[in-house]
Amino acid sequence: MTKKLYIKTYGCQMNVYDTERMVDVMAHEGYAVTEKPDDADLVVLNTCHIREKAAEKVYSDIGRLRVMKQKRIKKDGKETILAVGGCVAQAEGSEIQRRMPVVDMVFGPQTYHRLPEMTRAADEAKSHGVRPRIVDTDLSVSEKFESLSKKTVSPKRTAFLTIQEGCDKFCTYCVVPYTRGGEFSRSFEDVMKDAGKLHEAGVLEVTLLGQNVNAYHGLSGAGEEWSLARLIRHLADTTDFKRIRYTTSHPGDMTDELIAIHGEVEQCMPYLHLPVQSGSDKIVKAMNRHHTIASYMKNIEAIRAVRPDIALSGDFIVGFPGETDADFQKTMKLVRDVNYAQAYSFMYSERPGTPAAGWENQVESHVKSERLAELQQELERQQRAFNDKSVGKVMPVLLERTGKQASHLVGRSPYMQAVYVDVGNEETAAQNFGKLVDMKIISAGPRSLKGEFAN
Ligand code: SAH
Ligand code: SF4
Ligand code: F3S
Repeated sequence: MTKKLYIKTYGCQMNVYDTERMVDVMAHEGYAVTEKPDDADLVVLNTCHIREKAAEKVYSDIGRLRVMKQKRIKKDGKETILAVGGCVAQAEGSEIQRRMPVVDMVFGPQTYHRLPEMTRAADEAKSHGVRPRIVDTDLSVSEKFESLSKKTVSPKRTAFLTIQEGCDKFCTYCVVPYTRGGEFSRSFEDVMKDAGKLHEAGVLEVTLLGQNVNAYHGLSGAGEEWSLARLIRHLADTTDFKRIRYTTSHPGDMTDELIAIHGEVEQCMPYLHLPVQSGSDKIVKAMNRHHTIASYMKNIEAIRAVRPDIALSGDFIVGFPGETDADFQKTMKLVRDVNYAQAYSFMYSERPGTPAAGWENQVESHVKSERLAELQQELERQQRAFNDKSVGKVMPVLLERTGKQASHLVGRSPYMQAVYVDVGNEETAAQNFGKLVDMKIISAGPRSLKGEFAN
């Protein structure tokens, strides 16, 4: 009998990618995915440690799962293995099991390729009436990719491909260098091998992933170094991918070569997520961001010069220690100057083990919420304006999901906007599913567009 696997994913795209790989790895062990945790023999929480809220959510979910697990064994006599993976697991390790003894397995972002062995060990322990207490939080990356490469499958039209992981930048607020480890670029050949598999599986859009994807510097077997720009150009020349995207980029690693690609490579989509965090030089310096506001604005100017229609996105933190009203107003000014197509914004969250968490000049929480509200109002206005401007235009949309109803399809515009279309009936929906089609945008909402077939 096939076993069932339920995975809940928190956090960034890197975790989404990791979840897909866990599904692949466990499929080889005879596990099929279920949407219902109370149906699952193995429940995995693929967690995020970036802000306190995200991390605390994991513990409340574990509390709920404990009750579910007890019910399942009482009702059906079935055991559930409860596993916590991802960045909280890496950061807290066995502390999780001390706080929540119901957790059977803890594994970090660099060890999930060993999930089959861990699960078998947990099954074995349970069959002897012993509580499994498995912890695997090793941080060496290369073995993981080597092991995963043998198993990758992807039935979809759009796929993530991790090419770089970890971070050496050590922004003073951020846990990622500790939860994902140091910067690591996969080799050129490994990346191309995975790209080839996606290509063969019919993938039309690939998103190259990395915590600092534009710091990519993979070696080839011949010892040559490959930059992200060169890799994108090569993918465009040697595969039939219709769309190539990459995320997340660091402003300090935005090379001229990469900027030029946006004007030269047709498959490179006109969307760039380039987080700046704050518009104040004093604050970005205190954040240890390795760039200035002037250098960021220069990047934006240069990219708009080669690709005037590019949709820009960013991340912002408000209420970083020492941020005054004047600093915050500099962020507002930068946002008005850049004019984003969309963006993410957060209140600064003190994270254990990061330098800024110990600083005395923390900003009061009501000030943080006021600043966040002001910033988000402006960012939402900009997003709305960007979406409104799309109405009447015709653009290619990759219809990659079904919507709420069987006759609804949803896809992304070149600018990453979600586009909905009601194709009328299920049959037409099935015919167009997974296709890249020209759509005329007929209306716009705050977060999505509505389209119809252009001809
Ligand atoms: N590597 C990416 C971002 C990874 S984390 C980069 O450097 O841009 C994603 C976003 O979460 C960050 O850009 C930042 O805006 C936010 N973030 C990270 N740590 C945070 C913290 N301690 N408090 C609030 N937001 C945080
Ligand atoms: Fe975190 Fe900074 Fe590294 Fe991004 S660049 S992952 S924000 S430390
Ligand atoms: Fe969160 Fe880890 Fe991603 S902390 S944002 S899941 S790298």
